[in-house]
Amino acid sequence: MSILVTGGAGYIGSHMVLSLLEHDHDVVVLDSLVNSSLEALRRVESITGKSLRFIEGDIRDRELLDRLFAEHNISDVLHFAGLKAVGKSVEQPLHYFDNNVSGTLALCQAMEAAGVRRLVFSSSATVYGEVGTMPIHEGLPTGTPTNPYGRSKLMVEEVLKDLVKSDSRWSIALLRYFNPVGAHESGLIGEDPNDIPNNLVPFISQVAIGRREVLSVYGNDYPTPDGTGVRDYIHVSDLVDGHLCAMQAIARQPGIGIWNLGTGQGYSVLNMIQAFEEASGRDVPYNIALRRDGDIPECWADPSKAERELGWKAKRNLDAMMHDTWRWQVNNPEGYRS
Ligand code: NAD
Ligand code: WQD
Repeated sequence: MSILVTGGAGYIGSHMVLSLLEHDHDVVVLDSLVNSSLEALRRVESITGKSLRFIEGDIRDRELLDRLFAEHNISDVLHFAGLKAVGKSVEQPLHYFDNNVSGTLALCQAMEAAGVRRLVFSSSATVYGEVGTMPIHEGLPTGTPTNPYGRSKLMVEEVLKDLVKSDSRWSIALLRYFNPVGAHESGLIGEDPNDIPNNLVPFISQVAIGRREVLSVYGNDYPTPDGTGVRDYIHVSDLVDGHLCAMQAIARQPGIGIWNLGTGQGYSVLNMIQAFEEASGRDVPYNIALRRDGDIPECWADPSKAERELGWKAKRNLDAMMHDTWRWQVNNPEGYRS
């Protein structure tokens, strides 16, 4: 049996594929390469010494999906494919809903037709919206995401919940990621934003290497210890381990499982700058800018449900996240184009 990884050439997906190969799974990757490079998968094969099957295509292409399920004996689907740029989702809502929501519908329809009913979905802490008290646990109701990207994740969660209600043979994990950062310890694969990075850690890293001059800190007047935004940053390799545990859990028990994947520890923007400077030995010049639209003051997980039910806990600390990011950045100053 094989595992289908949609979006497997992307940042998180490529780390997932690497881990699956290391655990002796057969892997089929479906990716349109709209936000990734095949070079990531070449490197995954070279790190593991194992090969995978790659299909270039779109999850919205139902005929392609039907062919894929007919040709490969798929047991589980890990569904990472999606667009994730918050700002672009505001400019192009139709494109985002089509890709993220319609794409997932097409995937589930093809899975249903093929009798494959185990799915792990990449959701996001953004589905909680703005929460009054920290940490955030899964028992809280979902809130109002502040942008179409976030709403696309919430819509997919609702669709998948209804699907499980309609047919108890489905087994679905909704994994709500907090802020994935870091890179594989080899320094050979990592996050490679196409454009100017939207997220904090890739931006800091590009400032440290000299690709960008200065970091804008979006607001220092939040009600947080140092006034800057606080988030729960989680090492991508820990995140991937969480998927392996979730896959095992949904194989044991059908239904829907919702788990936060975070560390339970919040760090401010200034904490992150300092930690990166220590790990890299470089200065990260910054200035204080206005708050960014749609940002919330703080967000960190209560990860205890995942520990209790999946036997999973994040192991890597902030220092490891920063060292691994820096190793990837230094080895690949221009990302996969280096
Ligand atoms: P990424 O952009 O690096 O990876 C997504 C991959 O999906 C890319 O390789 C892209 O080419 C592919 N893709 C996009 N649309 C596709 C389509 N229609 N058909 C086939 N392939 C398609 O992003 P990532 O950071 O690895 O995120 C993976 C998933 O996790 C996404 O669904 C994202 O929304 C979710 N997520 C990410 C974060 C984060 O901060 N990185 C946080 C929470 C949730
Ligand atoms: C972290 C902190 C910023 C950049 C976003 C999405 C979310 C999720 C992950 C997928 C905040 C501050 C950032 C910069 C800064 N993705 N910052 N200067 O906003 O928590 O979440 O990515 O689901 O949906 O909204 O992550 O890394 O963008 O920001 O000061 O140049 O860093 O204000 O406090 P965020 P982030």
